[in-house]
Amino acid sequence: MSLQPIFQTIENTPVGLAIRDSQWLFPIIEGCHLLGLALIGGVVLLVNMRMLGLGLGKESAAELERDARPYFNGSLILMLVTGSLLFTSEAVKCYNNQAFWFKMSSLLLAIIFTMTINRRAALAGTGGGSSGAKVIAIINLLLWTGVGVGGRWIGFS
Ligand code: HEM
Repeated sequence: MSLQPIFQTIENTPVGLAIRDSQWLFPIIEGCHLLGLALIGGVVLLVNMRMLGLGLGKESAAELERDARPYFNGSLILMLVTGSLLFTSEAVKCYNNQAFWFKMSSLLLAIIFTMTINRRAALAGTGGGSSGAKVIAIINLLLWTGVGVGGRWIGFS
């Protein structure tokens, strides 16, 4: 069963139409989306570099994870809100776009992995990263890179 009619309905909502018919709404929302990307990317890098035994050496991975968590949660909410608005304005394009589905799958995996396995490994982290923590940090970084690449790829396809 094609979901296209549902995506067409989303695109025809007043929000979708307003963003699509405006010259500046999409770029402003995408600008906020990129700001959120910088923040969430920074937080993920900070904690995962510490798990790799790199970066801010004075704090343990556990301390960094705890201190950075509100910024992670806040920037994730910003990305979900701005992303949903961008999506509403071009839902049919996204529906037929492999990059969008690649991004959404990476995003779901990245959020689950960061909030479970990565968080547990970071909180267990005292000094330099154990080999297990390093592998987990690399997987987490690859998942979030997939989200970012998928996001940029949407615009190119
Ligand atoms: C933490 C989560 C997210 C990250 C890291 C992310 C990352 C990105 C990046 C890097 C871009 C390209 C921006 C540019 O180059 O101008 C982008 C664009 C976009 N994102 Fe996201 N995004 C996230 C969440 C979402 C969500 C949840 C949605 C939809 C439900 C979404 C929908 C879009 C759309 C529609 C575009 C515009 C593509 C275009 O240029 O036509 N994003 N995102």
